[in-house]
Amino acid sequence: SLPQRVRLFEMAPRDGLQNEPGSMVPTATKIDLIHRLANAGIRHIEAASFVSPKWVPQMGDATDVMHGITRTPGVVYSALTPNLKGLENALAAGVDEVAVFGAASEAFSQKNINCSIAESLERFKPVLKRARDANVRVRGYVSCVLGCPYEGDIPPEKVAQVAKALYDMGCYEISLGDTIGVGTPLAAKRMIEAVSGQVPIDRLAAHFHDTYGMAIANLYAVMQEGVSVIDAATGGLGGCPYAKGASGNVATEDVLYLLEGLGIETGIDLQAVLDTGNWITQALGRKPTSKVALARGAR
Ligand code: HMG
Ligand code: MG
Repeated sequence: SLPQRVRLFEMAPRDGLQNEPGSMVPTATKIDLIHRLANAGIRHIEAASFVSPKWVPQMGDATDVMHGITRTPGVVYSALTPNLKGLENALAAGVDEVAVFGAASEAFSQKNINCSIAESLERFKPVLKRARDANVRVRGYVSCVLGCPYEGDIPPEKVAQVAKALYDMGCYEISLGDTIGVGTPLAAKRMIEAVSGQVPIDRLAAHFHDTYGMAIANLYAVMQEGVSVIDAATGGLGGCPYAKGASGNVATEDVLYLLEGLGIETGIDLQAVLDTGNWITQALGRKPTSKVALARGAR
């Protein structure tokens, strides 16, 4: 049965902007975006990424972003931290929560974080320990849960194995990434069945990209399995620099439209998110891609 309430984890400032081509998005625009998202009622925002600026220059101003935002009480501002160096920088910048990110595909792990899956899990352990000492919660991502741009199909058992490893080392929640948006509902359901045999279902989040327009259908499928945390990006922004052809995260507007239709509470103002999506896509010189934006037009 469907959850009564869904927690939405907003990805636009991080997953949304990390792959932005061309000139850098000004730090002030990122800060403005984060403010608008919080004002729309979003309570969980991935605000930055403390990765190597040589790998992802788009996130090179993470410290300035964190220092520039005015905090809304009750909002959790999180950031990616692939290693201890990233974690120390994130802690110094005052993040509320961090995330480590691994993959269910060896080839993707190599391309994205320059090490094997096993090496990545070893690298995350001291990050988890240091974060625990600092009283900061750690989320864990698994990429390529429904397919890999290099390896193709990924067995659900492999996803479950990596998710369990992250959960066992102390990640409070495991976000399952359809990094390249190739999943379909039956595959998504089977993947969740496999993972929820290893990690409690209320500790799982769905992080679906919308490359084939299947993300909403896939979310519906996994919500029926009991998933109640959804990652989405306002304006449908994003893509992964190490996953060619991957399009953005499922749009927050579209997820909210689905959830409102199902009578599922989020506490988020759809119109304010839509306005924010229209604003940020315009600031980036693009058209909004969410279905809600296309249906209702920019105001
Ligand atoms: P590496 O080159 O193997 O690392 O990169 P290294 O330890 O050898 O360091 C190389 C240089 O980077 C050194 O500098 C380090 O100091 C520096 P140098 O001595 O050459 O001057 N460095 C750093 N600088 C700042 N912050 C740091 C940091 N770490 C090292 N944290 C590393 C390994 C993991 C760092 C690199 O591969 C990396 O940063 N990768 C990040 C890739 C990335 O951000 N991908 C996108 C996010 S994941 C994603 O989008 C998927 C997700 O959305 C879920 C889904 O959709 O599936 C989460
Ligand atoms: Mg992603």
